[in-house]
Amino acid sequence: MWQSLPLWPDRASSLSNHVDALYIFLIAITGFFTVMIFLLIFIFALRYRRSRNPLATQIEGSHVLEATWSLLPLGVFVIMFVWGAFIYMLEARPPAASMEIFVVGKQWMWKLQHPEGVREINQLHVPVGRDIRLALISQDVIHSFFIPAFRIKQDVLPGRYTTIWFRATKPGRYHLFCAEYCGTLHSGMIGEVVAMEPAAYQGWLAGGAAEGTLASVGQKLFQQLGCATCHRFDTQGRGPNLVGLYGKPQLLDNGQTITADDNYIRESILNPGAKVVSGFRPIMPTFQGIVDEEQLLALLSYIKSLSVSEQREAVDSRAASPSHVPAAPSAQQSAAPRQ
Ligand code: CUA
Repeated sequence: MWQSLPLWPDRASSLSNHVDALYIFLIAITGFFTVMIFLLIFIFALRYRRSRNPLATQIEGSHVLEATWSLLPLGVFVIMFVWGAFIYMLEARPPAASMEIFVVGKQWMWKLQHPEGVREINQLHVPVGRDIRLALISQDVIHSFFIPAFRIKQDVLPGRYTTIWFRATKPGRYHLFCAEYCGTLHSGMIGEVVAMEPAAYQGWLAGGAAEGTLASVGQKLFQQLGCATCHRFDTQGRGPNLVGLYGKPQLLDNGQTITADDNYIRESILNPGAKVVSGFRPIMPTFQGIVDEEQLLALLSYIKSLSVSEQREAVDSRAASPSHVPAAPSAQQSAAPRQ
């Protein structure tokens, strides 16, 4: 019934029904109590009007009544909390085999980066039926990535990757908004998500700019910036070997163990002294101001690929012939939108 209401946005992701069910529950509960309160006001005003009830009756209290009006709402609120927490956990944890797309927010546009190397601005093409994990970061202030039809919204912060995921269920074009006031042109920081059938998506992807995969751009940068002189893959260099690093626990020189995730790798490039791996000296220079957010994503993608292709040895074959990788363009030049 409510599907036909124009007030309700499209339901186009696997999360939509979960969010809507909870939302309908909340509306039903608040609607029920709103109506009940107004009805009771009306009934009591009639029933206890002065002509019928000239003297107020003193009531000393009722434990049953007090317990009821405390425990009943508590039960309802616990249901709301547990249900909401369930959906939150569902949205916060991307399925393991998700495809990863990077999102960079800046005043006032969205830059989207596919692992295959295709870049988009204010437009995101995705295949239907595929779990997609977004890693989001801002180049300046706080933005918020909001796709109403998918029922996902995630703050995009400077200096830290955040994550959200979705699985589009219906081909179509959907609104993409910035949902956090971020300056003069905040209202213009909009775009669209194009959900396509997998075959059509592959076709679209094949027609994209061929500047190499994001990981290969990162590999090129890794050489250019001289990372490879210390982070060697053949012998032990002055820095840790990065093959197989991503997602694994790392022992630090302060005895602490952390997981080598997106944020750890980002921090280690920009502020290498913050978490030094056990057995190494803090000799790495900072790359703050040298690499921008998009180059960081390329480096991150490359370091990740070193773990994924550990078994496939794909990296070795690519490393042997880096000549097919075109020069890594500067972020500004290469960020042209494509249709
Ligand atoms: Cu970006 Cu509002």
